[in-house]
Amino acid sequence: ATLKIAVIPGDGIGTEVMPYGVRCLQAAAQAFGLALHFETFDFASCVFYQEHGEMLPLDWKDTLLKFDAIYFGAVGMPALVPDHVSLWGGLLKFRREFDQYINLRPCRLMPGVRCPLAGRQPGDIDFWVVRENTEGEYSSIGGKIFEGTDRETVIQETVMTRTGVDRVLRYAFELAQRRPRKHLTSATKSNGISITMPYWDERVREMASNYPDVAVDKYHIDILTAHFVQKPDVHVIFDVVVGSNLFGDILSDLGPACTGTIGIAPSGNINPDKKFPSLFEPVHGSAPDIAGKGIANPVGMIVSNSVISFEEDKSVWAGQMMLQHFGFHDAAGAMLQAIERVLARGEAEVLTADMGGKGTTKALGEAIESEILSF
Ligand code: NAI
Ligand code: MG
Repeated sequence: ATLKIAVIPGDGIGTEVMPYGVRCLQAAAQAFGLALHFETFDFASCVFYQEHGEMLPLDWKDTLLKFDAIYFGAVGMPALVPDHVSLWGGLLKFRREFDQYINLRPCRLMPGVRCPLAGRQPGDIDFWVVRENTEGEYSSIGGKIFEGTDRETVIQETVMTRTGVDRVLRYAFELAQRRPRKHLTSATKSNGISITMPYWDERVREMASNYPDVAVDKYHIDILTAHFVQKPDVHVIFDVVVGSNLFGDILSDLGPACTGTIGIAPSGNINPDKKFPSLFEPVHGSAPDIAGKGIANPVGMIVSNSVISFEEDKSVWAGQMMLQHFGFHDAAGAMLQAIERVLARGEAEVLTADMGGKGTTKALGEAIESEILSF
Protein backbone atom coordinates (compact mmCIF):
# COMPACT_ATOMS: atom_id res chain seq x y z
CA ALA A 1 0.00 0.00 0.00
CA THR A 2 1.13 3.52 -0.72
CA LEU A 3 1.48 5.89 2.17
CA LYS A 4 -0.03 9.24 1.21
CA ILE A 5 1.68 12.22 2.75
CA ALA A 6 0.44 15.81 2.59
CA VAL A 7 3.47 18.11 2.64
CA ILE A 8 2.92 21.58 4.09
CA PRO A 9 6.19 23.55 4.24
CA GLY A 10 4.67 26.72 5.77
CA ASP A 11 6.88 29.76 6.27
CA GLY A 12 10.45 30.80 6.97
CA ILE A 13 12.83 27.96 7.66
CA GLY A 14 9.90 25.54 7.34
CA THR A 15 10.29 25.94 3.58
CA GLU A 16 14.06 25.51 3.86
CA VAL A 17 14.15 22.31 5.92
CA MET A 18 11.16 20.62 4.29
CA PRO A 19 12.95 19.68 1.02
CA TYR A 20 15.51 17.69 3.03
CA GLY A 21 12.80 16.05 5.09
CA VAL A 22 11.14 14.88 1.88
CA ARG A 23 14.43 13.87 0.24
CA CYS A 24 15.43 11.81 3.26
CA LEU A 25 12.05 10.12 3.25
CA GLN A 26 12.45 9.39 -0.44
CA ALA A 27 15.90 7.99 0.25
CA ALA A 28 14.46 5.72 2.94
CA ALA A 29 11.70 4.68 0.56
CA GLN A 30 14.31 3.83 -2.05
CA ALA A 31 16.58 1.96 0.36
CA PHE A 32 13.77 -0.06 1.92
CA GLY A 33 11.32 -0.39 -0.95
CA LEU A 34 8.49 1.67 0.50
CA ALA A 35 5.83 3.32 -1.60
CA LEU A 36 5.35 6.94 -0.60
CA HIS A 37 3.23 9.48 -2.36
CA PHE A 38 3.77 13.17 -1.65
CA GLU A 39 1.56 16.12 -2.46
CA THR A 40 2.58 19.64 -1.48
CA PHE A 41 0.19 22.37 -0.31
CA ASP A 42 0.83 26.08 0.13
CA PHE A 43 -1.89 26.71 2.72
CA ALA A 44 -1.49 27.06 6.49
CA SER A 45 1.22 29.60 5.74
CA CYS A 46 1.36 33.37 6.10
CA VAL A 47 2.14 33.65 2.40
CA PHE A 48 -1.20 32.00 1.68
CA TYR A 49 -2.85 34.28 4.23
CA GLN A 50 -1.53 37.40 2.57
CA GLU A 51 -3.02 36.31 -0.71
CA HIS A 52 -6.35 34.92 0.51
CA GLY A 53 -7.05 36.62 3.84
CA GLU A 54 -7.40 33.17 5.44
CA MET A 55 -4.85 30.60 6.52
CA LEU A 56 -6.79 27.73 4.97
CA PRO A 57 -9.01 27.17 1.94
CA LEU A 58 -12.63 26.22 2.69
CA ASP A 59 -12.17 22.61 1.66
CA TRP A 60 -8.97 21.99 3.64
CA LYS A 61 -10.48 19.25 5.75
CA ASP A 62 -11.72 17.16 2.84
CA THR A 63 -8.42 17.69 1.09
CA LEU A 64 -6.30 16.50 4.02
CA LEU A 65 -8.60 13.63 4.99
CA LYS A 66 -7.44 11.88 1.81
CA PHE A 67 -3.95 11.56 3.31
CA ASP A 68 -2.48 9.17 5.83
CA ALA A 69 -0.25 11.79 7.41
CA ILE A 70 0.57 15.47 7.32
CA TYR A 71 4.21 16.48 7.19
CA PHE A 72 4.42 20.05 8.41
CA GLY A 73 7.32 22.54 8.37
CA ALA A 74 6.62 25.61 10.49
CA VAL A 75 4.31 28.59 10.31
CA GLY A 76 4.77 32.23 11.26
CA MET A 77 5.75 35.63 9.89
CA PRO A 78 5.33 37.67 13.06
CA ALA A 79 6.33 40.94 11.38
CA LEU A 80 3.40 40.66 8.95
CA VAL A 81 0.76 38.43 10.54
CA PRO A 82 0.09 38.22 14.29
CA ASP A 83 1.19 34.84 15.67
CA HIS A 84 -2.19 33.99 17.18
CA VAL A 85 -3.78 34.50 13.77
CA SER A 86 -1.28 32.34 11.91
CA LEU A 87 -1.22 29.58 14.49
CA TRP A 88 -4.95 29.38 15.24
CA GLY A 89 -5.88 29.71 11.58
CA GLY A 90 -3.97 26.61 10.49
CA LEU A 91 -1.88 24.31 12.66
CA LEU A 92 -4.11 24.53 15.72
CA LYS A 93 -7.15 23.74 13.57
CA PHE A 94 -5.41 20.60 12.34
CA ARG A 95 -4.60 19.52 15.87
CA ARG A 96 -8.15 20.05 17.07
CA GLU A 97 -10.29 19.04 14.13
CA PHE A 98 -8.21 15.94 13.53
CA ASP A 99 -8.33 15.24 17.26
CA GLN A 100 -4.55 14.92 17.52
CA TYR A 101 -4.78 14.86 21.26
CA ILE A 102 -1.29 13.61 21.94
CA ASN A 103 1.71 15.76 21.24
CA LEU A 104 4.75 13.55 21.67
CA ARG A 105 8.13 15.16 21.95
CA PRO A 106 11.15 13.01 22.52
CA CYS A 107 14.17 14.59 24.04
CA ARG A 108 17.48 12.86 23.71
CA LEU A 109 21.10 13.81 23.77
CA MET A 110 22.48 12.86 20.37
CA PRO A 111 26.08 11.90 19.67
CA GLY A 112 28.21 14.73 18.36
CA VAL A 113 25.89 17.48 19.61
CA ARG A 114 27.39 19.81 22.16
CA CYS A 115 25.37 19.54 25.35
CA PRO A 116 25.17 22.85 27.20
CA LEU A 117 25.08 20.94 30.48
CA ALA A 118 28.50 19.81 31.62
CA GLY A 119 29.58 16.20 31.57
CA ARG A 120 26.61 14.56 29.85
CA GLN A 121 27.10 11.75 27.36
CA PRO A 122 24.60 10.45 24.80
CA GLY A 123 22.29 8.15 26.72
CA ASP A 124 22.32 10.28 29.86
CA ILE A 125 19.40 12.35 28.70
CA ASP A 126 16.58 10.41 27.14
CA PHE A 127 13.03 11.27 28.02
CA TRP A 128 9.72 12.04 26.41
CA VAL A 129 7.41 14.93 26.93
CA VAL A 130 3.77 14.02 26.43
CA ARG A 131 1.77 17.16 25.94
CA GLU A 132 -2.01 17.47 25.97
CA ASN A 133 -2.80 18.91 22.57
CA THR A 134 -6.46 19.85 22.26
CA GLU A 135 -7.63 21.77 25.34
CA GLY A 136 -6.21 23.19 28.57
CA GLU A 137 -4.82 26.70 28.61
CA TYR A 138 -5.03 27.04 24.82
CA SER A 139 -8.75 27.69 24.74
CA SER A 140 -10.64 30.29 22.80
CA ILE A 141 -13.01 31.04 25.66
CA GLY A 142 -12.66 34.52 27.01
CA GLY A 143 -12.67 38.08 25.88
CA LYS A 144 -11.87 41.72 26.45
CA ILE A 145 -14.16 44.17 28.19
CA PHE A 146 -14.05 47.87 29.00
CA GLU A 147 -11.63 48.21 26.14
CA GLY A 148 -9.69 51.44 26.10
CA THR A 149 -10.79 52.45 29.61
CA ASP A 150 -8.79 52.12 32.78
CA ARG A 151 -11.00 49.16 33.66
CA GLU A 152 -9.79 47.29 30.57
CA THR A 153 -9.91 43.57 31.41
CA VAL A 154 -9.00 40.41 29.55
CA ILE A 155 -10.02 36.91 30.52
CA GLN A 156 -9.08 33.56 29.04
CA GLU A 157 -10.38 30.35 30.50
CA THR A 158 -8.53 27.07 30.89
CA VAL A 159 -10.63 24.11 29.85
CA MET A 160 -9.98 20.65 31.22
CA THR A 161 -12.41 17.86 30.50
CA ARG A 162 -12.29 14.49 32.19
CA THR A 163 -12.08 12.79 28.81
CA GLY A 164 -9.34 15.14 27.64
CA VAL A 165 -7.20 14.82 30.74
CA ASP A 166 -7.69 11.08 31.15
CA ARG A 167 -6.82 10.19 27.59
CA VAL A 168 -3.49 12.00 27.65
CA LEU A 169 -2.66 10.56 31.07
CA ARG A 170 -3.56 7.06 29.95
CA TYR A 171 -1.29 7.44 26.94
CA ALA A 172 1.56 8.72 29.12
CA PHE A 173 1.16 5.93 31.69
CA GLU A 174 1.14 3.32 28.95
CA LEU A 175 4.24 4.84 27.47
CA ALA A 176 5.95 4.84 30.88
CA GLN A 177 4.91 1.25 31.43
CA ARG A 178 6.70 0.22 28.25
CA ARG A 179 9.91 1.99 29.14
CA PRO A 180 12.56 0.16 31.16
CA ARG A 181 12.44 2.63 34.04
CA LYS A 182 8.65 2.88 34.19
CA HIS A 183 8.67 6.35 35.59
CA LEU A 184 6.21 9.17 35.06
CA THR A 185 6.55 12.80 36.08
CA SER A 186 3.48 15.02 36.10
CA ALA A 187 3.84 18.77 35.59
CA THR A 188 1.47 20.71 37.79
CA LYS A 189 0.98 24.05 39.47
CA SER A 190 -1.71 23.21 41.93
CA ASN A 191 -0.33 25.60 44.52
CA GLY A 192 -1.07 28.64 42.38
CA ILE A 193 -3.71 27.55 39.89
CA SER A 194 -6.30 26.43 42.34
CA ILE A 195 -9.07 24.78 40.31
CA THR A 196 -7.79 23.17 37.13
CA MET A 197 -4.40 22.02 38.38
CA PRO A 198 -5.69 20.27 41.53
CA TYR A 199 -8.10 18.53 39.17
CA TRP A 200 -5.19 17.47 36.96
CA ASP A 201 -3.41 16.09 40.08
CA GLU A 202 -6.55 14.23 41.10
CA ARG A 203 -6.84 12.58 37.69
CA VAL A 204 -3.14 11.63 37.83
CA ARG A 205 -3.68 9.95 41.21
CA GLU A 206 -6.73 8.13 39.95
CA MET A 207 -5.01 7.00 36.74
CA ALA A 208 -1.92 5.89 38.67
CA SER A 209 -3.99 3.31 40.52
CA ASN A 210 -4.40 1.47 37.20
CA TYR A 211 -0.64 1.33 36.68
CA PRO A 212 0.83 0.12 39.96
CA ASP A 213 4.14 -0.73 38.30
CA VAL A 214 4.73 2.87 37.20
CA ALA A 215 6.50 5.17 39.68
CA VAL A 216 4.88 8.60 39.74
CA ASP A 217 6.30 11.98 40.72
CA LYS A 218 4.79 15.40 40.43
CA TYR A 219 6.49 18.76 40.41
CA HIS A 220 5.21 22.27 40.14
CA ILE A 221 6.16 23.67 36.78
CA ASP A 222 8.53 26.28 38.20
CA ILE A 223 10.84 23.83 39.95
CA LEU A 224 10.34 21.31 37.18
CA THR A 225 11.90 23.70 34.67
CA ALA A 226 14.83 24.12 37.07
CA HIS A 227 15.24 20.33 37.26
CA PHE A 228 15.20 20.11 33.46
CA VAL A 229 18.21 22.39 33.41
CA GLN A 230 20.06 21.05 36.43
CA LYS A 231 19.41 17.32 36.40
CA PRO A 232 17.61 16.09 33.30
CA ASP A 233 19.51 12.82 33.48
CA VAL A 234 17.73 9.56 32.92
CA HIS A 235 19.15 7.98 36.05
CA VAL A 236 18.07 10.88 38.26
CA ILE A 237 14.51 11.67 37.32
CA PHE A 238 13.17 11.94 33.86
CA ASP A 239 11.66 9.21 31.76
CA VAL A 240 8.15 10.24 30.71
CA VAL A 241 6.95 13.73 31.57
CA VAL A 242 3.28 14.56 31.07
CA GLY A 243 1.87 18.06 31.05
CA SER A 244 -1.06 20.20 30.07
CA ASN A 245 -1.05 22.02 26.75
CA LEU A 246 0.87 25.03 28.08
CA PHE A 247 3.24 23.23 30.41
CA GLY A 248 3.96 20.55 27.82
CA ASP A 249 4.70 23.25 25.25
CA ILE A 250 7.21 24.96 27.51
CA LEU A 251 8.88 21.74 28.62
CA SER A 252 9.22 20.47 25.09
CA ASP A 253 11.26 23.48 24.00
CA LEU A 254 13.30 23.50 27.18
CA GLY A 255 14.08 19.78 27.08
CA PRO A 256 15.67 19.75 23.62
CA ALA A 257 17.44 23.04 24.37
CA CYS A 258 19.11 21.26 27.29
CA THR A 259 20.37 18.63 24.87
CA GLY A 260 21.99 21.24 22.63
CA THR A 261 19.45 22.77 20.25
CA ILE A 262 15.75 22.78 19.51
CA GLY A 263 16.78 22.40 15.86
CA ILE A 264 16.99 18.62 16.25
CA ALA A 265 13.73 18.07 18.11
CA PRO A 266 10.85 16.25 16.43
CA SER A 267 7.23 16.24 17.38
CA GLY A 268 4.27 14.04 16.58
CA ASN A 269 0.71 15.31 16.83
CA ILE A 270 -0.99 11.99 17.14
CA ASN A 271 -4.55 10.84 16.77
CA PRO A 272 -3.96 7.44 18.40
CA ASP A 273 -7.31 6.12 17.20
CA LYS A 274 -6.08 6.64 13.60
CA LYS A 275 -9.46 8.06 12.71
CA PHE A 276 -7.78 11.17 11.35
CA PRO A 277 -4.34 11.83 9.86
CA SER A 278 -1.61 12.52 12.39
CA LEU A 279 0.78 15.41 11.87
CA PHE A 280 4.55 15.30 12.13
CA GLU A 281 6.67 18.41 12.46
CA PRO A 282 9.82 19.75 14.02
CA VAL A 283 9.34 21.39 17.43
CA HIS A 284 10.82 24.66 16.24
CA GLY A 285 9.02 27.54 14.52
CA SER A 286 9.74 29.50 11.37
CA ALA A 287 12.81 31.21 12.90
CA PRO A 288 12.55 34.59 11.15
CA ASP A 289 15.94 35.56 12.59
CA ILE A 290 17.75 33.03 10.41
CA ALA A 291 15.22 32.52 7.60
CA GLY A 292 16.61 32.99 4.11
CA LYS A 293 20.18 32.29 5.14
CA GLY A 294 20.18 28.58 4.38
CA ILE A 295 21.65 27.67 7.77
CA ALA A 296 18.64 26.15 9.54
CA ASN A 297 19.20 22.76 11.10
CA PRO A 298 17.13 20.21 9.12
CA VAL A 299 17.45 17.39 11.67
CA GLY A 300 14.21 18.15 13.54
CA MET A 301 12.34 18.04 10.25
CA ILE A 302 14.02 14.84 9.12
CA VAL A 303 13.82 13.00 12.40
CA SER A 304 10.16 13.78 12.85
CA ASN A 305 9.48 11.10 10.31
CA SER A 306 11.91 8.53 11.58
CA VAL A 307 11.31 8.18 15.23
CA ILE A 308 10.64 4.88 16.87
CA SER A 309 7.21 3.79 18.00
CA PHE A 310 6.88 2.86 21.62
CA GLU A 311 4.17 0.44 20.75
CA GLU A 312 6.59 -1.60 18.71
CA ASP A 313 9.94 -0.88 20.24
CA LYS A 314 10.02 -0.55 23.94
CA SER A 315 13.57 0.59 24.39
CA VAL A 316 14.43 3.41 22.07
CA TRP A 317 13.61 7.03 21.99
CA ALA A 318 10.75 8.86 20.61
CA GLY A 319 7.33 9.20 19.39
CA GLN A 320 5.65 6.98 16.92
CA MET A 321 6.49 9.41 14.27
CA MET A 322 5.69 9.06 10.71
CA LEU A 323 7.34 5.93 9.38
CA GLN A 324 7.07 4.12 12.67
CA HIS A 325 3.49 5.23 12.99
CA PHE A 326 2.81 3.17 9.90
CA GLY A 327 4.99 0.27 10.89
CA PHE A 328 8.02 0.91 8.68
CA HIS A 329 10.43 0.13 11.46
CA ASP A 330 13.53 -0.76 9.45
CA ALA A 331 13.40 2.40 7.41
CA ALA A 332 12.68 4.53 10.47
CA GLY A 333 15.50 2.95 12.45
CA ALA A 334 17.91 3.46 9.55
CA MET A 335 16.99 7.11 9.30
CA LEU A 336 17.68 7.69 12.94
CA GLN A 337 20.98 5.81 12.68
CA ALA A 338 21.96 7.81 9.63
CA ILE A 339 21.37 11.05 11.52
CA GLU A 340 23.40 9.81 14.47
CA ARG A 341 26.28 8.73 12.27
CA VAL A 342 26.44 12.08 10.52
CA LEU A 343 26.25 14.04 13.76
CA ALA A 344 28.80 11.78 15.47
CA ARG A 345 31.37 12.56 12.78
CA GLY A 346 31.25 16.10 14.08
CA GLU A 347 32.40 17.77 10.86
CA ALA A 348 32.27 21.56 11.18
CA GLU A 349 31.40 21.91 7.48
CA VAL A 350 28.36 19.71 7.97
CA LEU A 351 27.00 20.63 11.40
CA THR A 352 24.84 23.75 11.40
CA ALA A 353 25.63 26.77 13.58
CA ASP A 354 23.14 25.85 16.31
CA MET A 355 25.27 22.73 16.87
CA GLY A 356 28.52 24.64 16.86
CA GLY A 357 29.43 24.08 13.20
CA LYS A 358 29.39 26.26 10.13
CA GLY A 359 27.47 23.99 7.78
CA THR A 360 24.39 24.79 5.74
CA THR A 361 20.95 23.19 5.70
CA LYS A 362 21.97 21.71 2.35
CA ALA A 363 25.27 20.23 3.55
CA LEU A 364 23.70 18.56 6.57
CA GLY A 365 20.54 17.51 4.75
CA GLU A 366 22.48 15.92 1.90
CA ALA A 367 24.93 14.20 4.24
CA ILE A 368 22.01 12.52 6.01
CA GLU A 369 20.33 11.68 2.72
CA SER A 370 23.39 9.91 1.36
CA GLU A 371 23.92 8.08 4.65
CA ILE A 372 20.35 6.76 4.41
CA LEU A 373 20.94 5.67 0.82
CA SER A 374 23.95 3.64 1.99
CA PHE A 375 21.70 1.24 3.93
P1 NAI B 1 11.55 29.52 16.65
O1 NAI B 1 11.57 28.10 17.01
O2 NAI B 1 11.14 29.86 15.27
O3 NAI B 1 13.01 30.15 16.90
C1 NAI B 1 13.59 30.22 18.21
C2 NAI B 1 15.11 30.33 18.12
O4 NAI B 1 15.65 29.06 17.76
C3 NAI B 1 15.56 31.32 17.06
O5 NAI B 1 16.72 31.97 17.50
C4 NAI B 1 15.88 30.42 15.88
O6 NAI B 1 16.87 30.95 15.02
C5 NAI B 1 16.36 29.15 16.54
N1 NAI B 1 16.01 27.98 15.72
C6 NAI B 1 14.79 27.44 15.60
N2 NAI B 1 14.81 26.41 14.76
C7 NAI B 1 16.08 26.29 14.34
C8 NAI B 1 16.73 25.40 13.43
N3 NAI B 1 16.08 24.41 12.78
N4 NAI B 1 18.06 25.57 13.22
C9 NAI B 1 18.72 26.54 13.84
N5 NAI B 1 18.18 27.41 14.71
C10 NAI B 1 16.86 27.28 14.95
O7 NAI B 1 10.59 30.25 17.70
P2 NAI B 1 10.10 31.78 17.78
O8 NAI B 1 11.20 32.68 17.39
O9 NAI B 1 9.47 31.92 19.10
O10 NAI B 1 8.92 31.91 16.73
C11 NAI B 1 9.10 32.35 15.39
C12 NAI B 1 7.80 32.15 14.63
O11 NAI B 1 7.51 30.74 14.55
C13 NAI B 1 6.59 32.79 15.27
O12 NAI B 1 5.79 33.27 14.26
C14 NAI B 1 5.92 31.64 16.01
O13 NAI B 1 4.54 31.80 16.21
C15 NAI B 1 6.20 30.50 15.06
N6 NAI B 1 6.18 29.17 15.67
C16 NAI B 1 5.61 28.19 14.93
C17 NAI B 1 5.62 26.90 15.39
C18 NAI B 1 5.04 25.84 14.51
O14 NAI B 1 4.84 26.06 13.34
N7 NAI B 1 4.79 24.66 15.04
C19 NAI B 1 6.22 26.54 16.67
C20 NAI B 1 6.86 27.64 17.34
C21 NAI B 1 6.82 28.92 16.85
MG1 MG C 1 6.23 25.52 21.19
